[in-house]
Amino acid sequence: MFRVQEGPQGITAFMGKIPQDIIDRILDSIDIVEVVGGYVQLKRAGRNFKACCPFHNEKTASFIVSPDKQIYHCFGCGEGGNAIGFVMKYENMDFPEAVRMLAGKAGVEVPAYREADPKSASLAEQLYKINEIAAKFYQDVLNSEKGKKAVDYLKKRDVNSDTLNSFRLGYAPDAWEDLRKYCQSRKVPLDLLRKAGLSVPSDRGKADYDRFRKRLMFPIFDERGRIVAFGGRVLDDSLPKYINSPETPVYSKSGVLYGLNFSKKGVRDSGCAVIVEGYMDVIIPHQYGVTNIVATSGTALTQRQVKMLKKYTDTAVMVFDSDQAGEAASLRGLDILIENDMKVKIATLPEGEDPDSFVKSSGSKKFNDVVARAKGLFEYKLDIMIEKIGIRDIGGIVDEMLPTIFKISSAVMQSEYLKKLAERLGVHEASLRYEMTKVKPDYSYRYESEAQQSGKSANYRNSELHLLGLAMSDKHAYDRIQCELGFDKFRDKNVRKVMDAVTGFFDRGKSKVNTGQLLGRLEGDEDAKAAAIQAVAKADITQDVEKALKDCISCVLRENREEELKDLSLRLKKAQEANNDEAVTELVARINKIHKEKVA
Ligand code: CTP
Ligand code: MN
Repeated sequence: MFRVQEGPQGITAFMGKIPQDIIDRILDSIDIVEVVGGYVQLKRAGRNFKACCPFHNEKTASFIVSPDKQIYHCFGCGEGGNAIGFVMKYENMDFPEAVRMLAGKAGVEVPAYREADPKSASLAEQLYKINEIAAKFYQDVLNSEKGKKAVDYLKKRDVNSDTLNSFRLGYAPDAWEDLRKYCQSRKVPLDLLRKAGLSVPSDRGKADYDRFRKRLMFPIFDERGRIVAFGGRVLDDSLPKYINSPETPVYSKSGVLYGLNFSKKGVRDSGCAVIVEGYMDVIIPHQYGVTNIVATSGTALTQRQVKMLKKYTDTAVMVFDSDQAGEAASLRGLDILIENDMKVKIATLPEGEDPDSFVKSSGSKKFNDVVARAKGLFEYKLDIMIEKIGIRDIGGIVDEMLPTIFKISSAVMQSEYLKKLAERLGVHEASLRYEMTKVKPDYSYRYESEAQQSGKSANYRNSELHLLGLAMSDKHAYDRIQCELGFDKFRDKNVRKVMDAVTGFFDRGKSKVNTGQLLGRLEGDEDAKAAAIQAVAKADITQDVEKALKDCISCVLRENREEELKDLSLRLKKAQEANNDEAVTELVARINKIHKEKVA
């Protein structure tokens, strides 16, 4: 089935490309220092500005914004790009969205693309629109006479009107077709209402009925705040307590974290994501000022949810009720976090409390204290296992703990945990290490760096990147590289691509490459962009440009010579085998010539 769950690309792509000259104009009229400075506190450092990187956790500033080049770059995590890239990354916008936002700042007009015709809008867009209409309907009902009971219920649960409005809570009336009639009077086709999961076809040819009736409605938002689904809660103790939208083209339960749209800034600012279970466990803490909180909506954490969080933080604190603490299902969720290199901690609330009730009874400060005191995953899991399995069954505990340790990517941490486990169980570390060799990984890929893949040394690749960076920052260096080396000598195809773009700038008579614009030219080609950023970073920290040029040029020449020698020797061997004397003489001469150059 057609799905639009993650990236918004699929939806905006059909809108067509924004013309390059408009993008150039925007980049020309804004200043990246101002743009980034709107989000991050920047400090001047020589020609550049510095800050702690907003995209990874760090204590010393390695995030640089260059007003000359109109780019940003982090030496810590390797992130980098122009102003558009920064806004995309920080606001989690797609390219056209970021361009439009910056165009607003720059006062540049971006032509509107035809989009209004609902028939031509993608299915996903139509479903967002329908969910939007439905949410409005439920909100209106809540505010009407029919919603009085729901309003009372929310009051009882301490939800104030600001919270109610920002989370867009509503009420589905006690009726079979109110929503359908409301939507149909607004020209929403029935089949789309069904696809959105709001209308359910009834059997034997009777009319559809509304899925949600007599329920408090929680719109479920995606990361960017679009409504993708609904959860509906009864106002009393009847069952089922909640019903949710079915899976639709825009909603997959495993791909949503409830509250992330509201909490992403809080998660980023606080450096940690608090993960809870229920809708109210997000809403009430938010109202009390805990703004780094998201919910899994009652299921075990999924790979996709973790990937979403990873964009904002590398630390997660799972909050459990005391009675759930030992549940195997949740512990499996924890391994997913570890595999994705999240630092995982576990906080346990006093018996009978969930985050909603605890924040109300004890306040957000106490809640944050509980979060701050969270136990490391390893200690937590070990405690649970010892309690569950019993300390005497050492084998049983080891079987549970080793796969978890195995998933930790840092060898140092692995070692530390093995040591802890050995101490705790009173066994020799060496025997645990031996057991560990028997644990099988349950994933099949292995990370390989690009240099390894292409069989080139990292050193060589760095030389190419360094030369590219120097060429980008200085016409004189560009000319020298062209003259002493020639651009066809570059072996990395991304380096060649960026070099072509650089040549484009100089060919048009410019004396300087505008790196921000250059990145704009490479839009959509992530590998080439990454190469450009790495190149600029290398050039930026070059103290002695002449020496760098000399060293890198000779490194690239040397590599090319080695390659050529290999090739010539192969051909020589073949020529000898074929008794082709003429070719042999010529090849020997060429090989000798290269050897002489090497010495020179
Ligand atoms: N849930 C669900 N369907 C159910 C029960 C629960 O989808 N039948 C999900 C909901 O997202 C709910 C979460 O699991 O928010 C946690 O469930 P539970 O702890 O039972 O509910 P609470 O969130 O605590 O709801 P409340 O405080 O309103 O009772
Ligand atoms: Mn609850």
